[in-house]
Amino acid sequence: MRIALLLVGYGNVGRRYVELLGESQAALAAMGIAPVVVGIVTRRQGGIFDASGLDSPAITAWLERPSPGHVSTVEFIGDALDRLRVAPFDRSVVVETTTLDVASGEPAISHVRAALRGGADVISANKGPVAFAWRALADEAARVGRSFLFEGAVMDGIPIFNLVRETMPAVVVHGFRGVVNSTTNFMLTAMERGERFDVALARMQAEGIAEADPSLDVDGWDAAAKAAALANVLLDAETTPVAVEREGIGPETGPRALEARRRGRVLKLVASGAGRGAGARMRVRLEELAPDDPLAVLDGQGNALELDTWPLGRVVITQRDGGLEKTAYALVADLVTVARRMRA
Ligand SMILES: NC(=O)c1ccc[n+]([C@@H]2O[C@H](COP(=O)([O-])OP(=O)(O)OC[C@H]3O[C@@H](n4cnc5c(N)ncnc54)[C@H](OP(=O)(O)O)[C@@H]3O)[C@@H](O)[C@H]2O)c1
Repeated sequence: MRIALLLVGYGNVGRRYVELLGESQAALAAMGIAPVVVGIVTRRQGGIFDASGLDSPAITAWLERPSPGHVSTVEFIGDALDRLRVAPFDRSVVVETTTLDVASGEPAISHVRAALRGGADVISANKGPVAFAWRALADEAARVGRSFLFEGAVMDGIPIFNLVRETMPAVVVHGFRGVVNSTTNFMLTAMERGERFDVALARMQAEGIAEADPSLDVDGWDAAAKAAALANVLLDAETTPVAVEREGIGPETGPRALEARRRGRVLKLVASGAGRGAGARMRVRLEELAPDDPLAVLDGQGNALELDTWPLGRVVITQRDGGLEKTAYALVADLVTVARRMRA
């Protein structure tokens, strides 16, 4: 099955994804999947397209050329998908990895719509579309018989949405609670050891773990976007990150974390949601946890999510190691899901 890939956004995640596709080539081939990168578009660099496939010298030359000025990403997606209609591929997939906009989810939502309109499936690591417009986009995808998948939006490549969708038929999720932001968890752990807030944050930025705009992490926006995404998909909430009750961390959190430790408790930034539909309530807040709570034992970049389900009860999934490669893997897993659905 030859699948044409159109990359919308080509930053840390997009680049690691292309590498990982190469590293996973044999495994994908064994499943009969042959992905070919045919196009890339970014905000500053404009687009490059070749229906016969882009090799790495072509991509490098494109990256080195001067910026062409403003290019409409939505138009580029439409044009590229038009040209792919006559190309020898079984399917086109748009890979959306642009920057998160936590106020509206745009322009990523428009990118997803343009892709579906053009007949492509969409896989995304961006939280915006699922956090702001999950129901509408899922309906649009269903209408045109395509997939809209976003496993990388929460806990990188650790299966959350796949876990529930593929392995928990007829299960009802009543709620969730989790530590889902690596930067703040790492900083809380460092501050418990007495490290200053600004020093811990600078370290996260230097290691490329904090978001480009670190206020998205420390003010709780990233966790709120993940809570909204989880609530939309698992609790049918039709909410947005703006509706999530939100708390972040600051310099004053360090002494509070130390004091909690002294009392044998652990301070964590917990994202949670409970209830269903319009009655669902989501929040991100600092909570003091008992030391044997599965969320309390996470240090460094660890993330974990507990699902409260019927009839399985509480199910916990833990991510011990974070990082770019895991997010890139989520996009590989989504691609395989698209291929499996085509076969089915
Ligand atoms: N990094 C991680 O570990 C991680 C983990 C989970 C999820 N995510 C999510 O994955 C997405 C990508 O993350 P990243 O680390 O790869 O970000 P990044 O390095 O900042 O790259 C973002 C890319 O999006 C492009 N872009 C932004 N606006 C665009 C537009 N309107 N049209 C076309 N391209 C546009 C940028 O192009 P220019 O450079 O030309 O502006 C850049 O190529 C984000 O939504 C992030 O929240 C990241």
